[in-house]
Amino acid sequence: MSTDELALLRRQLERERAARKQAEALLDEKLSELTIAKQRFSEGKLAETAIAESRELLLKIIDTVPARVFWKDPDLRFLGCNTAFAKDAGMSSRDDMIGKDDYQMVWAEQADFYRADDREVMASGTPRLHFEEQQTTASGETVWLRTSKIPLVNDANETFGVLGVYEDITEYRRIEADNRVHVAELTALNGMLIEAQNQMLRSVKMASVGRLAAGLAHEIDNPFAFISSNLEALKGQVTDLLSVLEAYEKAEPALAGHADFLTAIEQAKSTMNFSFVQRDILNLISESLDGVQRAKKIVATLKDFSRVDTAEWQLANLEKGLESTLNIVWSEIKYKAKIKKDYAGIPEIECLAPQLNQVFLNLVVNAAQAIDERGVIILRTGFDEHEVWVEVGDTGKGIESEDLERIFEPFFTTKPTGKGTGLGLSLANNIVRRHGGRLEARSKPGKGSVFRITLPRHRLMNKDES
Ligand SMILES: Nc1ncnc2c1ncn2[C@@H]1O[C@H](COP(=O)(O)OP(=O)(O)O)[C@@H](O)[C@H]1O
Ligand SMILES: [Mg+2]
Repeated sequence: MSTDELALLRRQLERERAARKQAEALLDEKLSELTIAKQRFSEGKLAETAIAESRELLLKIIDTVPARVFWKDPDLRFLGCNTAFAKDAGMSSRDDMIGKDDYQMVWAEQADFYRADDREVMASGTPRLHFEEQQTTASGETVWLRTSKIPLVNDANETFGVLGVYEDITEYRRIEADNRVHVAELTALNGMLIEAQNQMLRSVKMASVGRLAAGLAHEIDNPFAFISSNLEALKGQVTDLLSVLEAYEKAEPALAGHADFLTAIEQAKSTMNFSFVQRDILNLISESLDGVQRAKKIVATLKDFSRVDTAEWQLANLEKGLESTLNIVWSEIKYKAKIKKDYAGIPEIECLAPQLNQVFLNLVVNAAQAIDERGVIILRTGFDEHEVWVEVGDTGKGIESEDLERIFEPFFTTKPTGKGTGLGLSLANNIVRRHGGRLEARSKPGKGSVFRITLPRHRLMNKDES
């Protein structure tokens, strides 16, 4: 091989070597590009999974929130919601909601109402929080919601929808309403208890006033007894004195010759107004006797009546009881009512007389209170071989039939506070029942009422019970 040929061959070899080096470098470059691409690819994959995972988490969270959550686009179509909300709408999954609007929901009835709210919240850009509204459910019921609506705003400050959150407060409202009723009931009960306590205090007071009155009545009895017997005696003596004076007066003409005597007599007579005294003195005594008689009667009834707490069974005449009751309340009712009596002369029965007097008193007071201006109270009695009865009737305002069923309930009253306690008839009823009897009422509204107490003539109950 010539030197020229050899040099040519070497140059060619060098060219080829350089070309290979270049190709190798290119290959290297491509390889590293490939590695980078591969790396980028796997990074992208990772990010995608991360996004998917965080989306899952977010959905899990909104499904876990103990509330209904939804969001709508500016045209008020659902963009998304939690599962609970989809269930409220009667859908099986939240994806069924997407793109629909309220008109397509079970609550179409309320759609206009909800949408007006949504628009207002988006337009104003201010949330509307915790307001109450109604919703028709998938089962056709109407429930109460507490709702909040908040505008959805992006970073560029543009509103792109509205977010709604609500919870069902139907049960809560029901409990609240129940509670309100309970509170009202308790308040009423409390009022009743206070009234009952007052009533008890009053009756304790009445009982001690009663005892005081009984004591006083006993004390007054004595002086009244001697005042009246002295007055009787005085009346007799004054009558005698007057007849002696009369005899003297007849003898006056015999003193014609004794001018000094006559003048003295005339003078004494005219100073004391003799003829008037002569006419008036017996009247004075009679009136005083009358007054003492009346006072004695009052004292007697007071004694009778104030034995309320001595619960002893005794034979008593109920007509007498009526009379003494009438005496007690007479001063209060005389301006309103005339009393008509129709007594049958009922036989005595064994009873707790003071307690029955209390019953008569309650009935008579009620009768008087039922009369607006003027009327009549009718007391009537009767009996047969087994029973006796006493009726207290009036021409008062009467009792409406719906009230008639309730008047014996404790605390039932139609009278203003302070006037009625509603305990009178219930107490009366208890007393009558204790006697094995019954208390009945009949009434014609606007015309009047009649209360009848019927009692067995012979005691039915165990004597120890009282
Ligand atoms: N003679 C009557 N006429 C009309 N209503 C009556 C009569 N007696 C009782 N009532 C009715 O029955 C209610 C209960 O009576 P009562 O128990 O004595 O309580 P009170 O008199 O304190 O209201 C009265 O508020 C009244 O409405
Ligand atoms: Mg009463």
